Amino acid sequence: MTFEEIKALDQARIMNTYGRSNLCVVKGSGSCCTGMDGKTYIDFTTGIGVNSLGFCDPDWVKAVSDQAATLQHISNLYYTTPDVQLADTLCSRTGYAKVFFGNSGAEANEGAIKVARKYSFDKYGAGRDRIVTLVNSFHGRTVTTLAATGQDVFHNFFFPFTEGFVYAEANSFEALEKACDDKVCAVMIEFVQGEGGVVPLDEAYVKAVAKFCAEHDLLLIADEVQTGIGRTGTLLASEQFGVHPDITTLAKGLGGGLPIGAVLVDERLENVMGASSHGSTFGGNPVVCAGANVVLSKLDDALLADIRRKGDKIRAALNKCKEVESVTGLGMMIGIALKTKTAADVREACMQAGLLVLTAKTKVRLLPPLTISDEDLDKGLEILCSVVDQ
Ligand SMILES: Cc1ncc(COP(=O)(O)O)c(C=O)c1O
Repeated sequence: MTFEEIKALDQARIMNTYGRSNLCVVKGSGSCCTGMDGKTYIDFTTGIGVNSLGFCDPDWVKAVSDQAATLQHISNLYYTTPDVQLADTLCSRTGYAKVFFGNSGAEANEGAIKVARKYSFDKYGAGRDRIVTLVNSFHGRTVTTLAATGQDVFHNFFFPFTEGFVYAEANSFEALEKACDDKVCAVMIEFVQGEGGVVPLDEAYVKAVAKFCAEHDLLLIADEVQTGIGRTGTLLASEQFGVHPDITTLAKGLGGGLPIGAVLVDERLENVMGASSHGSTFGGNPVVCAGANVVLSKLDDALLADIRRKGDKIRAALNKCKEVESVTGLGMMIGIALKTKTAADVREACMQAGLLVLTAKTKVRLLPPLTISDEDLDKGLEILCSVVDQ
């Protein structure tokens, strides 16, 4: 098929929910991918924070291929090895007691919301079911996670939304305290609001929220779908804020390119979800978990330190650009506010120059592969800085 034929078929047969760039990607290796026209692009997007090890990491490919050729799927009515290995690694490395596996970030957040409401129902009875989320947050696109998302623009068309979400201004402890009446059972936060424009929370605010939650038996839920799995320079971003939320959700980078979601819960929540209270046909799929096991095995202290170093390098390079107003984010999760140019124009010009970048609200957003070499990083930054400043 020609590119024009692909575009026509896409338009004819795929629901028109995405604004696609004028590029058909056919293959990738490491931090670079290739378009249909044979042109190579350095990738600072990782499929929106998914390909943590870049494109087609050989160990990841081998684990996934071997598992696909051995046992691609069996229902959750039987035991398998890759999911228990992944669960054990995740729990021992994060300090959580148990995990539930699903297939996406939204599904992980749905699971967390169910755990929080059931914990409260079991202990306090009906009526204590509200969840406070933050203004400008993003938690997914299912009807419930849209309701959880603290942005009015997402609260349209699909009425009725799931009830029971209250929104508090981020970084205002006063607003949080005011929102938490006796009907509230949990508070849900992103340490860095990714889709909201790469906006980090203040450490003091996060600590105050965690303390308040502990004092009032409110569960603190951390949505680490975008910030987790090394993206911010620690396995979980919570480590850098000095808190241990009761529930953490993961997705995106955990699978390294295959769909996965995970809900991690502390000891006191480990038995809240009993038999039949939750489930997922594909959750814990052996092929996906085999890939995720490789992602975690590579994400050791040395790589985490390297992510922090490369994040600092990106910030230093961008701060030298005349057109850059500010650089936000943590580790290799970067937001760039521009003085005069639009993020969409920069994204398009970067693509023309051989670099893929993302946008988030009015900012340019970078989520490069965690394993990117200095050589590719430098080349990408050179393109980005020259596009931004030209
Ligand atoms: C913080 C956060 N939560 C949840 C989601 C939804 O994840 P998914 O698209 O895998 O459902 C996203 C996706 O961007 C996200 O950034």
